[in-house]
Amino acid sequence: MLAIEQLSVSYGSVRALTDVDLEIRGEGLLHGIIGPNGAGKSTLLDAICGRRRPSSGRVRYCGEDITRRSISWRRRQGMARSFQRTSIFQDLTVHEQLKLVAQHLGDDRLDDVIEVMDLGGYLEQKAGRIAYGVQRRIDVALALIGRPRLLLMDEPGAGLSATETLRLFQHVRDLVRERRIAAVVVEHDVDAVFACCDMVTVLDLGRHLATGTPDVIRADHRVIAAYLGTAA
Ligand SMILES: Nc1ncnc2c1ncn2[C@@H]1O[C@H](COP(=O)(O)OP(=O)(O)OP(=O)(O)O)[C@@H](O)[C@H]1O
Ligand SMILES: [Mg+2]
Repeated sequence: MLAIEQLSVSYGSVRALTDVDLEIRGEGLLHGIIGPNGAGKSTLLDAICGRRRPSSGRVRYCGEDITRRSISWRRRQGMARSFQRTSIFQDLTVHEQLKLVAQHLGDDRLDDVIEVMDLGGYLEQKAGRIAYGVQRRIDVALALIGRPRLLLMDEPGAGLSATETLRLFQHVRDLVRERRIAAVVVEHDVDAVFACCDMVTVLDLGRHLATGTPDVIRADHRVIAAYLGTAA
């Protein structure tokens, strides 16, 4: 579904990504991205969704070179992104907020998004006044509107307890399988990633370190040295 080829991204003189190659298989698979702070994980999602232009390299989506396509073009083609910091409007009710995005994207089928993210009990509440764990579910729900084929999520578990993060990941994994879409999720909670992701990629210092199944990644000595050794 997605192929990243020799991708480099710089912020001025800071090289955030260097020659990253990565393939994301579609249809029902959850792909985790882990790595130390500053490894380039958010930058990689930015380059995939079109927020950040790479200085070199290519992004292919469903076989097409989309490196120069706009964010809105990518969104219409089924790429959706949720953010590391919660992007909800605090003064709107949950329902108003979901409807706003639905209108914008011309998708009026909110019921199953509400159901799958288990938001039915919160619709009339102001988003800013509900528990943080539920706010993170709203964030994912917002990204699900418009029937994305590829869901990109940046630390959906940020600020949640380990148990809440695991539950959120299980929701996402079930959803990805049910709808036969693909999802790429950046996350610091490696237990949730190893428990729920089908494939895992490790970035370190802007470079691709390893990609494999959770079992392979957990046992990879380079990954242990660069990340898991200190994270554990
Ligand atoms: N807007 C920016 N301007 C300048 N440098 C940036 C900018 N955003 C990120 N960087 C730098 O690029 C590198 C990669 O950052 P990025 O945010 O992609 O890492 P990350 O893996 O998502 O980190 P974290 O785990 O802390 O979220 C870091 O060195 C960071 O300081
Ligand atoms: Mg980040």
